[in-house]
Amino acid sequence: MYYPQELIDQIQQNNDIVDVINEYIPLQKKGSNYVCICPFHADTNPSLSVSRQKQLFKCFACGEAGNVFSFLQKYDGKTFREAVETLADRAGIKLPQNDSGEYSKEKQDHKQRLIECNTEAARYFYALLRSEKGQRGLDYFKKRGLSDETMKKFGLGFANVDGRDCIAYLKNQGFTDKEIIDAGIGVYNDERHGLRAKFWNRVMFPIKNQGGKVIAFGGRVLGDGEPKYLNSSETQIFNKSTNLYAFDIAKASRSTYFILCEGYMDVIALHQAGFPMAVASLGTAFTPGQALMIKRYVKDVYLSYDSDGPGVKAAIRAAKICREYGLSCKVINMTPYKDPDEFIKGEGREEYENRIKEAKNAFIFEIEVLRKQYDPSDPDENTRYDEEVAALLAEMSDEVARTNYIRACAKEMQISVDALTNMVAKQAGKIRNFTQPVKERSGIHEKKDDSKMRPQQLMLTYLAEYPSIYNQISKYVTPEDFTDEPYKTVAVQFFEDLQNGEASPARMVSMFEDEEIQNQVSDMFTAYLKGIESKEEKEAALVDIIYRLKSVAFEEMKNSPNGVDPAVFMSKKKELMEIRKIKIDLPE
Ligand code: CTP
Ligand code: MN
Repeated sequence: MYYPQELIDQIQQNNDIVDVINEYIPLQKKGSNYVCICPFHADTNPSLSVSRQKQLFKCFACGEAGNVFSFLQKYDGKTFREAVETLADRAGIKLPQNDSGEYSKEKQDHKQRLIECNTEAARYFYALLRSEKGQRGLDYFKKRGLSDETMKKFGLGFANVDGRDCIAYLKNQGFTDKEIIDAGIGVYNDERHGLRAKFWNRVMFPIKNQGGKVIAFGGRVLGDGEPKYLNSSETQIFNKSTNLYAFDIAKASRSTYFILCEGYMDVIALHQAGFPMAVASLGTAFTPGQALMIKRYVKDVYLSYDSDGPGVKAAIRAAKICREYGLSCKVINMTPYKDPDEFIKGEGREEYENRIKEAKNAFIFEIEVLRKQYDPSDPDENTRYDEEVAALLAEMSDEVARTNYIRACAKEMQISVDALTNMVAKQAGKIRNFTQPVKERSGIHEKKDDSKMRPQQLMLTYLAEYPSIYNQISKYVTPEDFTDEPYKTVAVQFFEDLQNGEASPARMVSMFEDEEIQNQVSDMFTAYLKGIESKEEKEAALVDIIYRLKSVAFEEMKNSPNGVDPAVFMSKKKELMEIRKIKIDLPE
């Protein structure tokens, strides 16, 4: 980041989030918080809640959350830096003019250079495709049915058989070895070989960020060969889990839905056939961060994954993430073709449009896939199937959605709605307790492994609300109890700040530059416990949270592939049992 953290802290402390938001949207006091109509979705009754104590806002309907900087970023489309500058100005704080040698200004400039380096490389690959050296690449794309216009639109290119060409070109453009390596275009092997090209003899797909800037590449071999696709590794400017291929085009298409595919070629074929709302993840599984990106623009996602086994599995996983993050999700049937690219070639645009219209609700799709794993002629297997569906339904936290799904599934399963409702209640009894989420989505902690992340979120929320309990809590809970990123990083810093008596949740948010992660971090401190009102209830809930938090670590130890020392096991087990009996006093 450009400005030093201390300065950011100072600016934040001098811009109370309640006052700042109130200048944009009138706030009303409600309990210890303030509320207003949320500007980030079509809100009717006030869903955006602002906490003066935590210096965070959060919409309990659409899930947007953050600190005072994030608010300006989201509300005004400012960059982080612009938000900092605006608020410094508002508080009359002078910002250093000539960057006073802070490392962060350099970092920012360096990133800019990396984008330029990728952009130059894209220009180079693009030109090469149309030169003699790129003839084979051009033939390849033509053979795959791409028009000139499509190639141009996606900036497709070719990396020469001799990769040195590209490196020489970039050096000639003034890029240093370090820049070329940091940009992901070059790799440093060893002293003897020095800097070498990452991509050679491949057709090239530039990957752009949300702002349409080239940040990475995918490269495909011309025929068969391994790996089929080679992608840039993650760099300072390329984060695979918060970018999507062709997202910049899709969001500008003003479509009311997105089509999510697996491959670059699938996206390109769909765009060429008139579906500019198609996007793909970047050689990795679909992530919550990507779901949140999509949710800013549309509420409906159509999955157009490969029709083979792994494709179906990946589709089910993606659909779960969509559901958890409040996207409605349908699955497009691609049979008998392997993927959308081949489907379009075989059947054309209109038939694909029909398939969109016929797309099946992803949950129904999932239970149909599940059905195939059980023998329908065996009553026991049928029971197990019914129970498994009931368990999936029980996981749904939104009551209205769950009721509707029960109805739809009962029909599909040919049992009565009442019978299925009872089964779901039974399954829910096994897994549900009040630490389960009450909202359909509010951040990364509510991904599939919710029983694990939810206690971590609640723990941080408690500590944010009652920092004075830190001394009691720290006897039992340490940052090591936080298992996944970005929880870990946040816990380490937040515990340290609590120790020093200067904890600020809003400050944690600014530790991250990525907007999606900022949202997740805000969520960590704004969990909501339904039906927990009195001090006694809160204290009891807190003990339960600590117990659950520690249970996760205990379970992980128990399942450790290296086995467990029985003595350690017993002492940990005893410790865990003791936690049940502790008492934490909350301040009045
Ligand atoms: N992929 C990857 N590395 C590989 C194979 C695939 O990163 N070795 C990613 C790429 O993003 C690719 C996507 O997975 O676009 C889909 O791969 P696959 O289904 O194997 O290829 P297709 O999309 O069918 O590609 P093509 O039509 O070019 O064969
Ligand atoms: Mn394909």
